[in-house]
Amino acid sequence: MHRSASSLLLAGLMPLAFAACAAEQAPAASSGADAPVASEAIASGRPAPQASPVPQAEGAWPRMTVHKTPTCGCCTVWVEHVREAGFEVDVVDVDDLGPVKQRLGVPYAKGSCHTAEVGGYLVEGHVPASDIARLLAEAPAARGLVLPGMPLGSPGMEMPDGRRDAFTVELVDADGSAQPFQHHPGNR
Ligand code: CU
Ligand code: CU
Repeated sequence: MHRSASSLLLAGLMPLAFAACAAEQAPAASSGADAPVASEAIASGRPAPQASPVPQAEGAWPRMTVHKTPTCGCCTVWVEHVREAGFEVDVVDVDDLGPVKQRLGVPYAKGSCHTAEVGGYLVEGHVPASDIARLLAEAPAARGLVLPGMPLGSPGMEMPDGRRDAFTVELVDADGSAQPFQHHPGNR
């Protein structure tokens, strides 16, 4: 019965996910030409690099596994985002993410298009690498981070016109409850 519930959740999410994915093929992350600007950029509210550099040397983070469906374009762009931030990533393509989300404890209604595992935590959806770095640094007793849905302008969901919606990454506690972890302001 868990299974049918998670299938329902995915059935509801996926059309939305694919529609949004299709809208953003070209404008991938600019390949790190101007990297170290994260905090001023955020403070000044510029339409700034979501691919904010992680303040650690490359290879310093635990290896990440990303579960996604084979045709998900925005998932691939997100993988590039976390790789640019210094994570080593193994990508696992699966047709049904439901069992993965269930095993890791992604709460119902908090799902997105891909599910990652890193350092014993789950990372659901288009979570900025800077938030994953903070999670690993603070190491709370929690399941991990979720960014429900697919907010426009989040990493992997960059819009051609640079538009960004506000979104809030949530921390999922060990009991499955979620609380705000990091708010990211929009630019319109
Ligand atoms: Cu996506
Ligand atoms: Cu995805």
